[in-house]
Amino acid sequence: MIPSLILDLLIILALPFSGSDEAGSGLADRQFYDCKECHGDLVEQDVMHYPAEDACDNCHESTGASHPSGDSVGFRLMDEIPTLCYYCHEESLDKAHPHQAVAAGDCLGCHNAHGSSETSLLHLPDPDLCLSCHKQDYRTDSTETLNIRRLVQGNMMVHSAIPGGGCMSCHQAHGSDFRALLVDRFPEEDYVPASTENFELCFLCHDTNRMNAEETEYGTGFRNGKKNLHYLHMNGNKGRNCRMCHNIHGSPQPYLIEEHIGFGSWEMQMNFVPEEQGGSCLPGCHGKLSYQR
Ligand code: HEC
Ligand code: HEC
Ligand code: HEC
Ligand code: HEC
Ligand code: HEC
Ligand code: HEC
Ligand code: HEC
Ligand code: HEC
Repeated sequence: MIPSLILDLLIILALPFSGSDEAGSGLADRQFYDCKECHGDLVEQDVMHYPAEDACDNCHESTGASHPSGDSVGFRLMDEIPTLCYYCHEESLDKAHPHQAVAAGDCLGCHNAHGSSETSLLHLPDPDLCLSCHKQDYRTDSTETLNIRRLVQGNMMVHSAIPGGGCMSCHQAHGSDFRALLVDRFPEEDYVPASTENFELCFLCHDTNRMNAEETEYGTGFRNGKKNLHYLHMNGNKGRNCRMCHNIHGSPQPYLIEEHIGFGSWEMQMNFVPEEQGGSCLPGCHGKLSYQR
């Protein structure tokens, strides 16, 4: 089906205004006047969607009513969204974890149909695009997706990867083979074998020394003298997930330290106190312990 439609598109390209054999109530009738004359704003954008630049009847068809005319609607889309988009684009839901917005066919939740000032016909630049929806909690009986805007705006600390490269430095927009639409591996469990492969996502940008070196003088600020406290918490088969101590998006504390650690249904305070040459924690996992670099 797709190849023949692409062929149609090519024919339309070759014969831009040759619809006269369809005379009657169809679009062909109306092509003697140029849609772009009145809807010029749609075709004069920085990044144009190729079919919109080419011919409006790649997607719109006439209802037979004259256009424009008061309350009657002159044109309708040739098909529903996302079916219309799949005339020409491959359905890309083959990933293990599709983004719900894509699976639901909400293409126009992120893309403009005609053109845009952003790349890839997006409404907004990253991260604003993502935050235009993720400014709320999503809850269903079986899933919960927390409000990310609350974490990255108005919090003292935001993960520098976000202003640096946007949400898509860690996430994929359409879908991913990794959980949570991530671009690489990051475990869901609180305790996992402490191998750098399990936390590959973080080590795309951060030095693995943090996790591998038992002693270090420069690998991390989380050390007592030379004793690497990242290593202390993350070695062997029951390594702690970064997420138990850090909030990956943003937090009200320095170094993205979490305020609370969740254990099942109860939450413990972290009680992290940063100091000039170190810090201290009283997380409930152990009594108050401090470290000095
Ligand atoms: C003489 C000016 C004019 C021309 C030419 C024109 N339009 Fe319109 N069109 C309007 C106005 C006015 C509206 C109503 C306001 C709006 O939605 O922008 C409209 C609305 C629309 C809409 C949304 C409402 C609907 O009817 O579904 C579509 C789609 C549309 N036009 C498509 C087209 C296409 C395709 C062409 C060329 C075949 C075209 N227009 C030519 C003036 C024009
Ligand atoms: C790739 C498919 C596609 C092509 C090609 C296309 N449109 Fe559209 N058009 C849409 C979709 C989808 C909507 C509905 C947008 C929405 O609901 O946000 C739309 C909506 C409109 C509207 C309603 C106002 C608006 O901006 O939402 C107008 C007017 C319109 N199109 C005119 C045109 C004209 C004129 C052309 C040719 C220059 C054209 N379209 C080509 C898909 C297309
Ligand atoms: C009539 C065929 C056709 C339809 C229908 C169509 N597209 Fe396209 N689209 C194209 C073509 C052709 C390109 C250019 C492909 C390229 O450059 O590789 C394109 C490019 C794109 C791009 C990439 C733009 C860029 O700058 O990288 C996006 C995003 C896109 N389309 C989204 C959509 C969405 C969303 C819909 C449904 C509302 C849709 N398309 C419907 C033909 C179509
Ligand atoms: C959550 C936002 C979002 C939604 C929803 C979405 N897209 Fe995209 N899409 C993007 C982004 C961002 C890109 C830029 C490429 C990238 O980095 O993944 C893109 C790229 C594209 C491209 C060009 C590159 C490619 O993959 O071929 C096409 C075509 C496209 N999208 C079509 C669609 C269609 C069709 C739908 C609806 C089924 C859709 N998109 C829904 C965000 C979205
Ligand atoms: C049009 C609205 C919309 C936009 C824009 C949007 N999302 Fe989503 N996103 C959703 C919905 C809906 C869900 C599913 C929420 C649920 O049911 O729990 C979701 C879920 C997610 C999830 C959780 C997936 C999982 O499997 O746990 C991530 C991660 C995500 N989105 C990232 C992004 C990123 C990154 C962007 C920007 C490229 C983005 N979203 C843009 C609507 C959107
Ligand atoms: C440094 C990497 C990184 C960046 C940048 C990033 N995220 Fe995430 N995101 C993650 C990780 C890792 C998870 C999984 C968290 C977990 O395991 O609890 C996640 C989870 C999510 C979820 C699912 C949350 C839930 O409650 O299930 C959403 C939605 C999301 N991110 C949206 C965004 C948005 C929007 C942006 C940009 C403002 C963004 N992310 C930037 C790494 C990142
Ligand atoms: C796309 C690159 C990128 C990825 C992926 C990434 N980060 Fe970062 N992260 C940065 C940058 C840039 C900084 C700021 C400079 C620095 O401290 O290294 C930063 C800083 C941090 C900080 C320290 C904040 C501070 O106050 O200095 C923590 C904690 C952190 N990241 C945790 C993580 C975790 C956990 C992951 C994996 C889920 C991760 N990062 C993935 C780029 C990234
Ligand atoms: C047991 C709690 C804990 C765990 C688990 C943890 N961190 Fe940290 N991390 C900290 C503390 C506390 C600091 C602040 C160190 C300081 O005072 O400079 C820190 C600081 C950082 C920094 C800032 C630079 C530095 O090292 O001082 C980065 C980046 C970082 N952590 C990444 C990670 C990554 C990636 C993971 C998982 C692979 C992780 N952390 C797991 C507690 C933890």
